[in-house]
Amino acid sequence: MTAPILEVQDLHVRFPVKRGLFGRTVGHVRAVDGVDLAIQPGETLGLVGESGCGKTTLGRSIARIISPTAGLIRYRDAAGDEVDLTTARNRDLRELQRQIRVVFQDPFSSLNPRMTLLQVIGEPLRNHNVATGSELEDRVAGMLSRVGLSPKYLHRYPHAFSGGERQRVNIARALILEPRLVIADEPVSALDVSVRAQILNLLRDLQEELGLTYLFISHDLSVVESVCDRVAVMYLGRMVEVAPTDELYTRPRHPYTEALLSAVPRPDPRLRDAGRRIRLADDLPDPADPPPGCTFHTRCAYAVPGSCDVPGGAPALERTGPGHRAACLRTDDLSLAGIEPDPV
Ligand SMILES: Nc1ncnc2c1ncn2[C@@H]1O[C@H](COP(=O)(O)OP(=O)(O)OP(=O)(O)O)[C@@H](O)[C@H]1O
Ligand SMILES: [Mg+2]
Repeated sequence: MTAPILEVQDLHVRFPVKRGLFGRTVGHVRAVDGVDLAIQPGETLGLVGESGCGKTTLGRSIARIISPTAGLIRYRDAAGDEVDLTTARNRDLRELQRQIRVVFQDPFSSLNPRMTLLQVIGEPLRNHNVATGSELEDRVAGMLSRVGLSPKYLHRYPHAFSGGERQRVNIARALILEPRLVIADEPVSALDVSVRAQILNLLRDLQEELGLTYLFISHDLSVVESVCDRVAVMYLGRMVEVAPTDELYTRPRHPYTEALLSAVPRPDPRLRDAGRRIRLADDLPDPADPPPGCTFHTRCAYAVPGSCDVPGGAPALERTGPGHRAACLRTDDLSLAGIEPDPV
């Protein structure tokens, strides 16, 4: 196995919860609560989980848009040297921020309406002192064609474009500094179903052409299935399962993954009716006050009182098979239901 491009160890990100007139801190949201994760060069690693489980926070701390509270983020640069992203400062940090870029979710709000495509896409080049003037314009024009837009749009404003086209602009902006690792945070969630496949194909083509590694964040397990090599499942700030995509979908080893999979729509009625839908109670526990023991026990159909809810640390990720890890005390007793691969 090759060395990972990125390795996260026991990462924590906490946000203060403030109350009252004077904004007194009354607690902390544990948005990321002890995550371990490795990303291999050239792969697409999916990151899934319900809203509020910490996906965006994890992605943004990897890109160092926010600073983690504790833990290690080790990045291996093109020369093979390891850098600790959590302690990098100033020039080192700026260089790392060139190599790790984020594609944001909403193509409507993430583009400044008063900037032309040249300005929007060229801004990172200017901020990082990479290019100016006609060189900058040439680079932006080249990137526009790469993402499937005509360079004649250079001087137009974002409002002239559809959602799919704006997402192409977002992708161009993320790639203009020639990053190696791209965090794509729900890159197609805000788009019409009809244009999703085009953007996913574009991301795949660019990955091949430019040798990119993706952390692909999504709550849509059908999309993740179609684009990811491996998948990591997150619950209340923790990683509960990681496995190659086929393996995770057909043989989940954590009850939370089983519940998420049971809700994946399958157009083929034989597949659709094969499984039963596992309803998760709506109330995600408060991430400022997570349940004791396994944090999923309050919603888990298999939880055993006196074992899964015993105060103390939540179960750690343990190896359950080749490339497969799950954080469940009962994983060896349970035979959980997966779903058949989507034939398309
Ligand atoms: N800047 C912030 N200040 C305070 N709390 C925050 C902040 N950003 C995120 N949180 C909290 O951290 C937790 C994780 O949020 P995050 O946005 O990372 O989740 P997510 O998995 O990306 O959700 P979604 O699927 O809705 O995008 C949530 O409880 C959220 O309310
Ligand atoms: Mg998010």
